[in-house]
Amino acid sequence: MWEVMLPQDFSKLEVIGEGKTKIVRRMENPDLVLLEFKDAITALDGEKKDTLTGKGHINARISSFLFEFLSKEGVPTHYVSFIEPNYMVVRRLKMLPVEIVCRNIAAGSFTKKYPVKAGSRLKYPVVEYYLKDDLRHDPMMNEDHIVVLGILPSIEEVKEIKELTLKVNKSLSNFLDSKGITLVDFKLEFGKDKDGKICIGDEINGDSMRLWDKETGRVLDKDVYRQGKKLSEVLETYRECYKRIIGEEPKV
Ligand code: TMP
Ligand code: ASP
Repeated sequence: MWEVMLPQDFSKLEVIGEGKTKIVRRMENPDLVLLEFKDAITALDGEKKDTLTGKGHINARISSFLFEFLSKEGVPTHYVSFIEPNYMVVRRLKMLPVEIVCRNIAAGSFTKKYPVKAGSRLKYPVVEYYLKDDLRHDPMMNEDHIVVLGILPSIEEVKEIKELTLKVNKSLSNFLDSKGITLVDFKLEFGKDKDGKICIGDEINGDSMRLWDKETGRVLDKDVYRQGKKLSEVLETYRECYKRIIGEEPKV
């Protein structure tokens, strides 16, 4: 019974996948998997790497909190439950090798590629698709690419993902605004559950969103690490992000 398993026992569960910041473990129930959030922080497709004690807890908790919020808003997600300090039980999905980015304000790669003023609000939210492929440095794709490469069977399903992304943008923007935070942009990953239903997977936290303080413009996300700030400042930023969203001090 996974519900009564102590966290230290989780290390005995078979590892079925590992990424830069998470470990995926098999659970007794074949429809579920356990995500363990590591204290690792990376940028530049993993070329820059560090350990930030407590980051795994912070990101697992924020993700769980935001997935719970989105589920209540009627968005299908893989989320099942949070287990202290850094675990999330999720439904097993067949993940699509695509990152979907949604932008409200010009920042990051968008300002590097296009002639647009950094920090300016876009006329309407822009949705972009990237192939998840570190060796190819995640090339951008359009909707046709997703179908032609066989990632999804039809353009209708691509549109479904786009609509879900825009719905998440609305819900999350409103929620974060109530916490004094501007949602600048974010990245989602989708998968299909055992019934073929498209759901949001992976994580939603300061690694996958750009968050700015509404009043001061202070950066509350992983950009401080991408910009090369001291690790103590990076950790303080993650702690602040937790405090704002969860409304209490992180337990680390
Ligand atoms: P970008 O401006 O670098 O393209 O990033 C857009 C958003 O996507 C930003 O909120 C950070 C997030 N993101 C990830 O979650 N993973 C990634 O690998 C990259 C490049 C961006
Ligand atoms: N996710 C990528 C990495 O960890 C890039 C980034 O988030 O900036 O390398």
